[in-house]
Amino acid sequence: MHTTVALTGASGFIGGVIARHLMKSGWHVRGLARSPGQAQKLKGLGITPVQGQLEDPASLLTLVKDTVGVIHCAGAIRGVSREDFYTTNVMGVSNLIQACLAQFPLPRFVLLSSLAAREPSLSPYAWSKHEGESVLIREAGTLTWSIFRPPAVYGPKDRALLPLFTLLRKGIGVQLGPSQAKFSLIHVEDLASAILHWLKNGDPPSQTFEIDDGFPGGYSWEDVFRLSNPRLRLCLHIPPSLLHIGGKSNEICSRLFGYTPLFTSGKVAELLHPNWVCDTHTTQTLGWTPQISLKEGLRRLFTSDRLMPSHRE
Ligand SMILES: NC(=O)c1ccc[n+]([C@@H]2O[C@H](COP(=O)([O-])OP(=O)(O)OC[C@H]3O[C@@H](n4cnc5c(N)ncnc54)[C@H](OP(=O)(O)O)[C@@H]3O)[C@@H](O)[C@H]2O)c1
Repeated sequence: MHTTVALTGASGFIGGVIARHLMKSGWHVRGLARSPGQAQKLKGLGITPVQGQLEDPASLLTLVKDTVGVIHCAGAIRGVSREDFYTTNVMGVSNLIQACLAQFPLPRFVLLSSLAAREPSLSPYAWSKHEGESVLIREAGTLTWSIFRPPAVYGPKDRALLPLFTLLRKGIGVQLGPSQAKFSLIHVEDLASAILHWLKNGDPPSQTFEIDDGFPGGYSWEDVFRLSNPRLRLCLHIPPSLLHIGGKSNEICSRLFGYTPLFTSGKVAELLHPNWVCDTHTTQTLGWTPQISLKEGLRRLFTSDRLMPSHRE
């Protein structure tokens, strides 16, 4: 008999890869789906769908019933204000924890947070990820939990970094932050393998892991350009003033045309922050090591015929 794991966000970029890794290792995956269409898609992938959402406690009870682990990967990544992120990224964590605490035996719980949680004052998104972590730590009780804080995650079907990587493939580097900025990166397959490792191996004490691809000291924009395309034809450094105008304009357009924006003033503040380098000292207790360097990750990305965004539009 397979052992069941509950997964939120299975229809998303990162959750989809985690689901594939879990199933490949013999786990039975139960996934939360927000619509009948998504439920059908998950079913087609071999995931048992539970229709519901983070705002619906009854569906969460069904999702986590008789599971050994709960991987909370769903999250709002688009929005302008704190209110746009609060329900999903803060209340959603609380609702899912309450559903877990109603189980016996208790499943283990992992929250996919973000390195952005380290700097809650920068943006509404960063604030919501920080608050989501605080809710977990406050409400977990006897639940065994871990928080994973990935930096920017890349891989096939990612839509946030896709435009930058597409331009890089064409020989055009676009620098969106300060030249002295340093940041960590992780390939989505490595992130999924770290979470699977956490699930399979024992119980490290409840703690936070900042995990990256192992590049010491983090990348500069120049490192990324050099490693990704040595034959770069053009390098564009977008000045902060233009980024601010872009973020604000997109917020105004989103109100006029009724969409939820990814590129906002908050995102610009995150981009201009000089230090997004993971502190990996706790990763040793995890006993996991990254396998995919940026060079290898980009080779896979550039030779992937799945560079296009996922089915979700
Ligand atoms: N991508 C990155 O670089 C990155 C970096 C650090 C941390 N993270 C974190 O990783 C997680 C996944 O990110 P991603 O890039 O995979 O995002 P994504 O592709 O937008 O996927 C988000 C997932 O969350 C689900 N979801 C959103 N709101 C929900 C709600 N209220 N109830 C139930 N499900 C809901 C979505 O369902 P639908 O399909 O129905 O929309 C989707 O499956 C997020 O928590 C994000 O903060 C991402």
